[in-house]
Amino acid sequence: MRTVGRGGTMHPSNDKTIVDQRGNREHVRRLIVCRNLDELAASGSALIAGFARETMQNRDRFTVALAGGATPQKTYSALAECGEAAGIDWSRTYFFFGDERFVPLDDPRSNFAMVERTLLRRRPIARSHALAIPTDRPNAAEAAAAYASQLAEFFASPSSGPPPRLDLAILGLGTDGHTASLFPAAPALREQQAWVTWSAPGTLPPPVERITMTYPILNAARQVLFLVAGDEKAIALRDAFQGDVPVERCPAAGIRPMEGSVTWLADEPAARLLTR
Ligand code: 6PG
Repeated sequence: MRTVGRGGTMHPSNDKTIVDQRGNREHVRRLIVCRNLDELAASGSALIAGFARETMQNRDRFTVALAGGATPQKTYSALAECGEAAGIDWSRTYFFFGDERFVPLDDPRSNFAMVERTLLRRRPIARSHALAIPTDRPNAAEAAAAYASQLAEFFASPSSGPPPRLDLAILGLGTDGHTASLFPAAPALREQQAWVTWSAPGTLPPPVERITMTYPILNAARQVLFLVAGDEKAIALRDAFQGDVPVERCPAAGIRPMEGSVTWLADEPAARLLTR
């Protein structure tokens, strides 16, 4: 097996080319298994820096949507520690949020607060380079609409049109199979036009309304990187990676970029049920 970064090993099912259910396009996916969360963080930050380097060889900026929750925190800290050395140019990197809790941005439950603590405040990253979801709106629906407008302005593309292509979308995986804030059986799963929508709380904490990017914009990404760690994620990872479960029950299985690549970066406990 080849290794990636420090510690990650390419799994035998690596670089499998998947033809999506419409059969007319492909997306490439690969699985990299690390021994533990620390190695996952080292490999994750190396992969992100690699995506950034590759992007900035051909384009003038690197756009990345960040995941929230607990798993990515060590990866973001590792990126803060070694991003420049690995080739990231913060002045050309722009951060967005795949989802957010409908709480103030300084609330400890806020994904922005977590990213600010683990990454943004630790490196020379201009505040204008991190587009937070505006949770100061009267309700989550208005916050979602405002974020879509801000994305449209940044990408100079009307929010009524096709979504912009993020260079990278970093995603987590919930034990219930959700990703971003696309929860099982939620109306947000059926959104096929809007780039951003809102959701009632899922079954997992915190029990607050969410704002989330939708399948259209996430599946337009050039690269998707899932970060999955912990024994409790093994069933959800098997269902999401092997794709044998309906998207309604496992929303992460609906992440199939039509012209992009998906990298699943998991630790051994989370990957223990993967057989192919
Ligand atoms: C959030 C995240 C969410 C997260 C999963 C996994 O707002 O909580 O964006 O989608 O990625 O719930 O969370 P953990 O990494 O904490 O298990």
